[in-house]
Amino acid sequence: MRSRAGRMRDIQPFRVMELLARARKLEAQGRDIVHMEIGEPDFPTPAPVIDAVFRAIASGDVHYTPATGLPVLREAIAGYYLRHDGVALDPARVVVTPGASGALLLVLGVVLDPGEAVLMADPGYPCNRNFVHFLDGRTRAIPVTADTGYQLTAQQVAQHWDETTAAVMVASPSNPTGTLIPTGELRQIRDFVARQGGTLIVDEIYHGLVYDGQAETALTLGDDLFVINSFSKYFGLTGWRVGWLVAPAAVVPDLDKLAQNLFLAAPTPSQHAALAALQPDTLVILDQRREAFRQRRDYLLPALRDIGFDIPMSPQGAFYLYANCERFTADSFQFATTLLEEIGVAVTPGLDFGNNQPEKHLRFAYTTSRERLEEGVQRLKAYL
Ligand SMILES: Cc1ncc(COP(=O)(O)O)c(C=O)c1O
Repeated sequence: MRSRAGRMRDIQPFRVMELLARARKLEAQGRDIVHMEIGEPDFPTPAPVIDAVFRAIASGDVHYTPATGLPVLREAIAGYYLRHDGVALDPARVVVTPGASGALLLVLGVVLDPGEAVLMADPGYPCNRNFVHFLDGRTRAIPVTADTGYQLTAQQVAQHWDETTAAVMVASPSNPTGTLIPTGELRQIRDFVARQGGTLIVDEIYHGLVYDGQAETALTLGDDLFVINSFSKYFGLTGWRVGWLVAPAAVVPDLDKLAQNLFLAAPTPSQHAALAALQPDTLVILDQRREAFRQRRDYLLPALRDIGFDIPMSPQGAFYLYANCERFTADSFQFATTLLEEIGVAVTPGLDFGNNQPEKHLRFAYTTSRERLEEGVQRLKAYL
């Protein structure tokens, strides 16, 4: 029996999951672990969201929704863009998905033919490469540095574009660097991609978590690009598995068709959770949490620099610090393992984010309390 398709060779696991499993094992043995590896907010689901979901379930609203999502949720998402970004959006362009992950899969599914290439920054969000491989496309990972805020420039996109290129993916703020792409640069990328007849996909999943200035949604640049977002990060609903995308109107029927086949719809209780997450009383709570993240960043960034990690750029958003650790090691994966075993500090090695000097980098996530971050820093200081 043939049990493994060839494409599985190109699909990489998340290395950090191995570290997480080891961290959990050490915890089960009684060790105290400071978790700075996990890319999810540590806060509980906001009370208004829980109340709304209980009410929805009690009223029996647990059946399939349309594949594009509850109409009332699509409208609420469009309303959120109007209030927060000043962008008037036809709710028909909003598609609700099982997380941003579902949105990325849908978008790539409708735009990418086998053998076509997708441009993306390295380091970048690892699953993007694997989605492309899953669809038998090719990834062209472009090494980026602090000089460009770890983001692609229009010049790099033009330089790496060829006749096999179908799309460019950017994430702003980025995972793992937390840095933004300037709107002017993104506009130039959009204009170039439009001239080539390609597709621009902008992942705005960390948009609610921007601490310096306000990130502008790429929807202000035109209605011919795809914007990905989610209730996982700013809204804190990781495990509820609900996100969304905004698409050019003409593509929605294809997205609808693919969503019907791939997942029928996002989970209905989670769509009710998302609806409640967009209400003013929940947003007040979420904004307080954003402030807590900002305070954590403002503590952790100088603290890690003081110990000797090189973080050339102050990230404007998300909850990550991407640190050069070559002063301490030539192998960040081994180093992350040692930190976990020796001092109980869990961080993510650069290897998960691409091939651009991963051995010199670690990602620190400030998704734990200030007290725990201080504990982690003390341990690192003493050890290093
Ligand atoms: C840049 C980026 N995009 C997409 C996702 C997927 O998020 P979810 O499927 O939970 O919405 C993540 C998760 O960490 C991410 O960092």
